[in-house]
Amino acid sequence: MPPTIGGLVDYLFVPRLDTRVENEHFQQELISAMTRVLDSGQYIGGPEVESFEHEVSNFLGVEHAIGVASGTDALTIALLAIVGIEAQDGEVITSPVSYCATGSAILRAGLQPRFVDIDEESFNLSPELVEAAIGPEIRAVLPVDLYGRVAEIAQIRLAAGNRPVIEDACQAFGAKTPTNEFAGTLSNVTAFSFFPSKPLGGYGDGGLVVTRDSNVADLVRIIARHGSRERYYSEFPGFNSRLDALQAALLRVKLSRVKSARLQRTHIARCYQEELKDLTWLRLPQDVEGHAWHCFTIRVLNNKREHLIRYLKDRGIEVVVQYPAPLHWMPPFKTGQCLPIAEQLCSELLCLPIWAGMSDAQINHVIQAVRFAGKMI
Ligand SMILES: Cc1ncc(COP(=O)(O)O)c(C=O)c1O
Repeated sequence: MPPTIGGLVDYLFVPRLDTRVENEHFQQELISAMTRVLDSGQYIGGPEVESFEHEVSNFLGVEHAIGVASGTDALTIALLAIVGIEAQDGEVITSPVSYCATGSAILRAGLQPRFVDIDEESFNLSPELVEAAIGPEIRAVLPVDLYGRVAEIAQIRLAAGNRPVIEDACQAFGAKTPTNEFAGTLSNVTAFSFFPSKPLGGYGDGGLVVTRDSNVADLVRIIARHGSRERYYSEFPGFNSRLDALQAALLRVKLSRVKSARLQRTHIARCYQEELKDLTWLRLPQDVEGHAWHCFTIRVLNNKREHLIRYLKDRGIEVVVQYPAPLHWMPPFKTGQCLPIAEQLCSELLCLPIWAGMSDAQINHVIQAVRFAGKMI
């Protein structure tokens, strides 16, 4: 029995994520998938990659799914395919609260990010502010489905007018909109990441571009293969960006668990919502239908975040500040803009552990520790 103070278990290790616990349930299937690839002798492209692309496009209900080497590549290649492969002038509207890959992809595609502030409740791009920022220099809009909540894609498409919308759904595989469409199915083109912590996490790096537009899909494949439409003939300098056969085989196993893993994370999110809702020194994320709960991100008010992090760490709970600074403060993307909601959010946010396979004891330990912390800090 772990030691307790005042009914609270004093220490229980709750990692930010433990993919090994999740894997235990289908370890044998993963091993069979790896063995199949080893035995096939085909490690680049081939039937595993084709089957995965086919299964994932069926799962999402989009016509084209193209595996690439990472989410960052998926975003960069999607941008190049939709905006053009020539050196570009122009800007792409995006969110200032995202992983730096969102900004890097825009720069790598030869464009400049134009950050627009986020909505305080959803943490996603505000369609009204997108509309206000549209001007002749804007080439595209790139919303991010932050923490697994799908951005207001339909409204953003309206705000974007005839400009394309490229969705960064790297954190939102399997998430749905309030009208029950999968993340990635409403935009012109979408990028997913298979980084291991993501809702469809792989066993190394990997990414995916999805689109309904066959011209865009063709271009994505060409860009990802050194600008080659035909083998051994390059038309322009593209990338070498492929999803490995081994990754594809393993992801096929994981794809069949995406829904149940999302339901498990939803259960944890609902426990947190229910048990923490009376704490006035923090704000909980909105509980919207279809959320993928890649992160459960609270806002810690009154400058208590550092104390809370230390308090939880001392009790074995790993939390993460994802992200401590908005993109427009970072050297590659500095725009000199003032975006008050994003800046405030970055100073308050904290992601509590949420992953498929967390035990009831671990969920309860987080809840009790956060509640107890409120009395101590
Ligand atoms: C919002 C967002 N965009 C892009 C990426 C880049 O994905 P990857 O790490 O697979 O390159 C990530 C992953 O960390 C992400 O969270």
